[in-house]
Amino acid sequence: MLTDWRSSGEGIPGYRALADRLRLLVLDGRLPVDTVLPSERTLAEALETSRTTTTSAYRLLRESGFAEGSQGAGTWTTLPRSEGRSESPIWPEHLSGEPDPSGARGDFSSAALEAPPELYPAYQAAISELPRFLPGNGYVTSGLPVLRDRIAQRYTEAGLPTTPEQILVTNGALQALHLVLGLVMERGDRVLVEHPTYPAAAQAIRTHGGRCVPLPVEAGWDIGRMATLIRQTGAHLAYLMPDFHNPTGLLMDEAQRRELGAMIADTGCRIIVDETMRELDLRTAVPAARAGVPTPENLPMPRPLAAFGPAEHVITLGSASKTFWGGLRIGWVRASQPLIRRLGLARGNEDLSGPLLEQLATANLLEHLPTIRHQRQRLVAERAVALRDALAMNLPGWSVPMPQGGISLWCHLPEPRSSHVAASARAMGVWLTPGPRFGLDGAFEARIRLPFARPTHDLVAMTEVLARAWHSQGRAHSLDDDLTTV
Ligand SMILES: Cc1ncc(COP(=O)(O)O)c(C=O)c1O
Repeated sequence: MLTDWRSSGEGIPGYRALADRLRLLVLDGRLPVDTVLPSERTLAEALETSRTTTTSAYRLLRESGFAEGSQGAGTWTTLPRSEGRSESPIWPEHLSGEPDPSGARGDFSSAALEAPPELYPAYQAAISELPRFLPGNGYVTSGLPVLRDRIAQRYTEAGLPTTPEQILVTNGALQALHLVLGLVMERGDRVLVEHPTYPAAAQAIRTHGGRCVPLPVEAGWDIGRMATLIRQTGAHLAYLMPDFHNPTGLLMDEAQRRELGAMIADTGCRIIVDETMRELDLRTAVPAARAGVPTPENLPMPRPLAAFGPAEHVITLGSASKTFWGGLRIGWVRASQPLIRRLGLARGNEDLSGPLLEQLATANLLEHLPTIRHQRQRLVAERAVALRDALAMNLPGWSVPMPQGGISLWCHLPEPRSSHVAASARAMGVWLTPGPRFGLDGAFEARIRLPFARPTHDLVAMTEVLARAWHSQGRAHSLDDDLTTV
């Protein structure tokens, strides 16, 4: 992480260059908070610099709130109290479920699409099927059999043989996550999460009394590091998004899945796998959108992670929200049959059942999955390309990798000013979620997640506002200037 630490420090003393680089690593989350740093002597030797340089750099980090510790006790990373703790809500307060007819408000905050054309007919078909159920009491605690059956079939087709008894239908993946956490974790447990991670998942873990342990993933999953963290922290649960991770859009390949499966068997760690984004594969759709040609056959998707680990240890969450529509509020858990039975009992104690009509509509939509998936991928790819082009034009200093899938760009800012930009943009009518929302303890102040869920013309207009918000910050801040203001 420090191989080129001197490069940013031309003209400034070595200890400052080193401290600046370490602060940046903490701010963007690559160096998680509470990481014990090497001793001053070890670091000096590794960097081939003087002990004075590392001692002064650590002192500067402590003075600026980026480290704590003392001689003898070691030095560990922290964040200044005010750093990046954005108060902005995950959801805009104005969300009404309807698009803003005036177009005056822009929403860069939610990575969720409008309904596909097949949705309304799916509801109409559901209405016509409803009379069959009306003589019954309407409660289906584990989910409507036809829907459990179709979800199971989808897993089997993806290379993970599954029976309907292994599926519990829930009100969205988020309810599924809460149910699972309620069953498999105890208060005080440490839970490994990718860093960055999906904010509502980190919040759910905290709600259940868990303590999140960050696993850096911006450069991909390091299974060896994960095993080390599990051993060091005693975590026996992890929450992962290997199928187009939110917010980076990364996809874990088969080889890593195999390695992870072996690691799970070895450590006994349980994994909650959130596959909410699985159908939004952009790997062939984006090049096709760029070339203006029809999307060719998709690259094969790796099999679901549960195909690689022991059945009792991998619990999978799925959702209809991104593939079809968030308004359905349909999600599910796929797990071993005994666990699903226990989750079903827990669910019965919570809200008894999900609505029937939505389950019927989702079962109908799943029949058209290949067509809808293809259309969705094309739509999302066109928007991804348009947003990235608009950013390149309006904010050329930002670095914006094209994701492998999902519905958002994870933008790297040249300065750690994400919360400032979010606040300024909101004052100009565009909602967005600053980077620290996706980090623990305020990390990712130099990142912004921008979903490409809106039509292209909205994305272009919102990007123009975003550029004004970025430039309205005045002169470029140095890291030092930001300490008290972020
Ligand atoms: C990774 C991830 N998991 C879960 C959810 C919530 O899904 P649902 O609408 O099914 O509750 C989202 C929604 O943004 C998400 O991105």
